[in-house]
Amino acid sequence: MTEAFNNSTQFMTDADLGAIAHYLKSLPGDPERDGKPWEYMAAKDSAFTSAGGHLYETRCASCHGNDGKGQAPWIPPLAGATSALIAVSDSAINISLNGSLRVVADGVPDAYRMPAYREQLTDLEIAQVVSFVRTTWGNSGGEVDSQAVARLREHTDPASPTPIVLHMR
Ligand code: HEC
Repeated sequence: MTEAFNNSTQFMTDADLGAIAHYLKSLPGDPERDGKPWEYMAAKDSAFTSAGGHLYETRCASCHGNDGKGQAPWIPPLAGATSALIAVSDSAINISLNGSLRVVADGVPDAYRMPAYREQLTDLEIAQVVSFVRTTWGNSGGEVDSQAVARLREHTDPASPTPIVLHMR
């Protein structure tokens, strides 16, 4: 999506963006696929004592916050993030392994990027922290295992963290 934003959507008029939003909101939901609507739930302090919670607090919270709400406008919330709600976990694992591309808005590069953790964290640690993100603050995406991380580690290229094709159910 970074490339789409850098090269395209940031140059759209408000009227065009409004029209796209209007269209997206008109699409019917699928409760069976999507589950119940997300609602924010504060994390208990004890949540940060698990292996995944501790990794989150030490590696991720400085940007995304212990409350999972991020820091607008540069750092997105993980509470209620699509990649933490959908059953398919590839996107959440991929960004944690490989980081994000640079966002350039109005010619100004972003100050904070999502760092790549593939050199710092093992498959098990990535699985633990991504599982924490996908099961905290009301997120219902569910846990991921280290085999899923190993598979994406093997099939993604750290030099060009391009989005990979999601496996649709
Ligand atoms: C230096 C600040 C920083 C740190 C530290 C950081 N992130 Fe991020 N994260 C970002 C930014 C910025 C984005 C948005 C990237 C984009 O969309 O281009 C992001 C996006 C994400 C997303 C995608 C959210 C969505 O909208 O679906 C996930 C998941 C994520 N981060 C998880 C983590 C995890 C797990 C850690 C710790 C292991 C972490 N982040 C540490 C800055 C950070």
